[in-house]
Amino acid sequence: MFIMPGIYKGMKRGPQVIQPKDIGIIISFTGIGKESVCVDAGTGSGWLAVSLARICKEVYSYDVREDFIKIAEKNRNMFGLSNLFLKKGDVTKSIKERNVDLVTLDMPSAEKALSSAKRALKVGGIVVGYTPHMEQAKAFVMKLNSLKFRDIMTVEVIVRDIMIRKEGVRPSNTGLWHTAYITFGTKT
Ligand SMILES: C[S@@+](CC[C@H](N)C(=O)[O-])C[C@H]1O[C@@H](n2cnc3c(N)ncnc32)[C@H](O)[C@@H]1O
Repeated sequence: MFIMPGIYKGMKRGPQVIQPKDIGIIISFTGIGKESVCVDAGTGSGWLAVSLARICKEVYSYDVREDFIKIAEKNRNMFGLSNLFLKKGDVTKSIKERNVDLVTLDMPSAEKALSSAKRALKVGGIVVGYTPHMEQAKAFVMKLNSLKFRDIMTVEVIVRDIMIRKEGVRPSNTGLWHTAYITFGTKT
């Protein structure tokens, strides 16, 4: 059985959320911490935005939909996070922040937001694309190449639940399998 950390149990859900297994690798592979400033889009239910704001200095999270921002607002307020700023806006058109450490993109056609993301990032800053389909991951990587990002890597996080019982030890035949392909790129 998969453990859902307590912090996520009371959180509201609107659109599909990023699961804790994927949030973990986003945090560890980008190396963000208490000095980091991040931009996130789309906010959706704010699961990733809240997780980032719990460990970073500031998080600016954009969504085009007011109704989803309201759900995320409830989740933000549950944790009293005054460093999480929820903004209405289309990140394919613009991201206002500059010199940020991380931009996370979990939205359809995420590659269309990469030019804005590049302008927002500092040199050495990292962009993350969260794409459910391989074709979307490919489009994201092609655009990263054309924008001259470096250290491009796409991964999938597969967590296997191992059942340990008297009669035998084996992986469970159920569980959370595919969620998304996660691509990382560094601004040059
Ligand atoms: C799957 S949800 C994000 C879930 C979120 N990462 C979480 O962990 O709860 C995708 C969101 O992207 C938003 N979106 C779609 N296009 C967008 C755009 N161009 N700019 C900003 N947000 C966008 C949608 O409204 C939707 O809320």
